[in-house]
Amino acid sequence: MSDLNNIVLKILDRGKGILAADESTGTMTKRLDGVNVPSTPENRLLFRETLFSAANMTECIGGVILYDETIKQQTSKKNTIPELISKMGSTPGIKVDTGAKILAGSPNEKITEGLDGLRERLKEYYKLGARFTKWRGVYIIANDYPSKLSIHSNAHALARYSALVQECNMVPIVEPEVLMDGGHSAEECYKKTSEVIKKCFDELILHKVDLKGIILKPNMILAGNKSKDKILNEEVAKLTLKCLKNSVPEEVPGIAFLSGGQSEVEATENLNLINKYNDTGFIMSYSYGRALQQSALKFWSKNIKDIDGTQKIFNHRAKMNTLAAQGKWSKDLEC
Ligand code: 13P
Repeated sequence: MSDLNNIVLKILDRGKGILAADESTGTMTKRLDGVNVPSTPENRLLFRETLFSAANMTECIGGVILYDETIKQQTSKKNTIPELISKMGSTPGIKVDTGAKILAGSPNEKITEGLDGLRERLKEYYKLGARFTKWRGVYIIANDYPSKLSIHSNAHALARYSALVQECNMVPIVEPEVLMDGGHSAEECYKKTSEVIKKCFDELILHKVDLKGIILKPNMILAGNKSKDKILNEEVAKLTLKCLKNSVPEEVPGIAFLSGGQSEVEATENLNLINKYNDTGFIMSYSYGRALQQSALKFWSKNIKDIDGTQKIFNHRAKMNTLAAQGKWSKDLEC
């Protein structure tokens, strides 16, 4: 087994998932503004350190995705953040893209940037303790979108990124996110997501990326958030499995879903059903941002000194998702 494959299997071991705490300063500021907490480096660190030192990190969270600011910060006990995460038995990771910008040639769509100078940045992050990375491509569904141009250019960037990351002995998370914004049907989401993922793998193979050493981070197959035709969670799970079975090569060891705007319990319930019906060889886990942090952030914003209370809420969500990643969750555990 390769070193990269070992890292993947360690991160996703026995229902463990990933905490996506890599919100850029701009996004984190929006989240903190939303709960009336000033977005200072100290407050961003305080909230994140509270989560990273929670008890269930050890049993449930196999990896934490950090933002550039956080990976360079020190904890209240004067450890680096990667040291804290490793001490908790988890693996530090880092977002390395520099954001989605307007795509020249199709200005309603986005292309993710960050390839220039990436090799040098990766070396620095490795030295700081990172062992895996994230890059997110983003796609919209509307009449003619995502366009061939967006599907092609984002897949190309994801593949060039992945090849550089593996060259630097880290595991790339490949995240092609088809957004849930809009009035489209789940069937439409299924079709577009399948096309997007297939193109990503064409490019990953062209760029000689070792597929055993990546984690795919896709969206689940959902109807758009403005669609009138919502589908049952059972159907979400079955369509998601069908899509991944048909578009992901068998060598890929693990898939970790993004939550993408689903509520906390919805994201857990859908992951549980995916695992209940999982007839693929893939590990199916989570790499949630909002669906792991929302309630904890809300509580913390009103009780900024209550570390235990905040951690209790985070511990619960982490535990629920780890049960769901093994198909062992049920609604009554939420009470
Ligand atoms: P959400 O789970 O909030 O969608 O965030 C996951 C993520 O990392 C998006 O890039």
